[in-house]
Amino acid sequence: MPVPQWWGVCEAKPGSRASALAPPARPARVRLPAPGEPVGFADHVKPLFREVDRKSMSFAFDLWSREDVAQHADAILHRLRQGTMPCDGAWSAEQVDLFARWITEGTAP
Ligand code: HEM
Repeated sequence: MPVPQWWGVCEAKPGSRASALAPPARPARVRLPAPGEPVGFADHVKPLFREVDRKSMSFAFDLWSREDVAQHADAILHRLRQGTMPCDGAWSAEQVDLFARWITEGTAP
């Protein structure tokens, strides 16, 4: 159930809030495509999303689903560039660039 707050409606689930006592964020794996190899969701993009990312964001979309990530790609890229998502530490420029490349190369029908 969405919870109304004074700033609007927050649809985050209780598990979306990382514990302050949680161990430091583990960096996601980055596998860059070989020269000439297109950026693929399963090979390059999905491994960027940790299990905690997927769990935290399940109220909005499934980060391990190509379809969901493609559908919300602009909002996701916006947050990644801002550095406000993931909530526990921004991605490196290399990771953000790879995701942006997948949007232009990999999501085209
Ligand atoms: C790469 C990983 C992540 C991406 C791409 C991502 C992306 C996003 C996006 C696009 C939104 C806006 C959704 C909407 O308004 O419908 C959002 C909201 C949110 N995310 Fe994430 N997220 C990630 C990881 C996380 C993690 C690790 C946490 C918490 C530990 C988290 C917690 C939240 C919460 C609480 C909101 C709702 C409040 C807000 O809009 O700031 N997310 N995220």
